[in-house]
Parts: sequence; C-alpha cells; structure tokens
Amino acid sequence: MTIVAMWCRHNGDDIIGANGGIPWNVSSDSQHFYDVVAGQTVVMGRKTYESLPGQTIAGCPIWVLTANRAYELTDAAMHRIVTGQREIANLLDEDGRDLYIAGGAAVYALFMTGKEKLKPQIVVDCVYYGELTEYGGAAAKITDSVAVLQKSYRRITPFYEADKVRSTVWIRKGEFVEQSVLKRIVKILERDTTVCAE
Ligand SMILES: NC(=O)c1ccc[n+]([C@@H]2O[C@H](COP(=O)([O-])OP(=O)(O)OC[C@H]3O[C@@H](n4cnc5c(N)ncnc54)[C@H](OP(=O)(O)O)[C@@H]3O)[C@@H](O)[C@H]2O)c1
Repeated sequence: MTIVAMWCRHNGDDIIGANGGIPWNVSSDSQHFYDVVAGQTVVMGRKTYESLPGQTIAGCPIWVLTANRAYELTDAAMHRIVTGQREIANLLDEDGRDLYIAGGAAVYALFMTGKEKLKPQIVVDCVYYGELTEYGGAAAKITDSVAVLQKSYRRITPFYEADKVRSTVWIRKGEFVEQSVLKRIVKILERDTTVCAE
C-alpha cells in the first residue's frame, strides 16, 4: 500500500486555495494531477470535493472527509464518506489499496502531521511561481505541511517545469517506496516539461 500526497502551492506563501477554488489556472498542472490520480482512490476534504467540477473525478473512487455522516454525495456508487483517519486506516487494511491525498489544506495537514501509519511515503510538490488571480477573504495555506516535507522527506527528482509550475517528487526518509508507483508518477511529470537540476 502506497500513500501519495499531491499539491500545487504558490511559491513563497504556500497558498493552495481561496474562495473555495484555486487562485490560478494552469491546465498543464491540472492535467498532471488528473493523470497521477487516474483510476486511483482519492481522499479529499469536503470543501475540496465541493470545488471539483461536477463533484467527481471520472473513474476515481473518492473518499470525502467530513464530520457529517449524512453528507450527500454526488455518486454514492463511486464516492464514500470517511469521518477520520481511523476509518481510513481500517478501509486500507481491508484491501491494501493505494491512496492519493488531494487536499485541501486541512487534509494535507491531517496526513502530513497525523497518524504515523497514514503519512504519505511520496509527496508530489508542485510550486506555482506566477501571479495569483485576485481573491477576497482568507487563503488556504499549507505552511505546516511544507515544513514537514522539508524536515522529514528527501527530494529524489530534478524539477519538472512548465507554465510557471515546478514539480518535484519527495519520499519520506527511511521509508520503503514502491518503485512502480514512483516510476509511474515521474513518467507523468516528465511529459511536456523541461527538466532542470535546480
Ligand atoms: N492547489 C491545490 O493543490 C489544492 C488541492 C486541493 C484543494 N485546494 C483548495 O483548498 C481549499 C480547500 O481547503 P480547506 O482546507 O479549506 O478545506 P478541505 O481540506 O478541502 O475540507 C475541509 C473539510 O474537510 C473535513 N475534514 C477535515 N479534516 C477532517 C477530519 N479530521 N475529520 C473529519 N472531517 C474532516 C471537514 O468537513 P465538514 O466541515 O463537512 O465536517 C472540513 O470542513 C479550496 O480553495 C480548494 O480549491 C487546492
């Protein structure tokens, strides 16, 4: 079982979202995300779920984190409610499937700093260094998760760059990582990007 977290954060301030959306629009980066999670089980917070077009990702089982057991899902056959990490751990124990953590900020923090067993072995760290689109209100930031990344993970790839997004793959120090998962992710990031050492 491999747990992967993938995010795209804004350079310098670690903003990942605002007003229930993402304050930039880079289609090549979105495509990388959809390619990485294709056919995989994805876990996300209720707010991120509500931000998805059609509240779905075609072909992906989605586990929606919410404290509300009665929350209405758009696709009860493919999606399910999960109310916390204990439930997620039990579900993973049942079939050992891989899990892809897709945000938002509350959910990245939960997995990066939460139960040892559920910490991602792989993090796909995409950093957008363009301008933010204007937004009002508070932004969702992942500063705490990035601090954990920098302390407890090791970068194992060069930078894959396209459209003002630089992506790298990190693995958790001292952790066994399933090579087939890693290779599949790297192959996706290599597509249509320039590889830079630094
Ligand atoms: N740039 C990126 O890579 C990226 C990726 C994903 C999302 N985003 C953006 O991030 C923003 C959303 O992030 P967010 O942090 O505000 O919200 P979020 O993490 O998507 O969702 C938060 C909700 O998840 C549920 N939840 C979280 N932890 C839980 C726990 N331990 N147990 C049970 N339920 C739990 C709660 O739902 P209930 O209130 O229903 O209980 C909570 O209100 C959006 O703007 C989105 O577009 C960006």
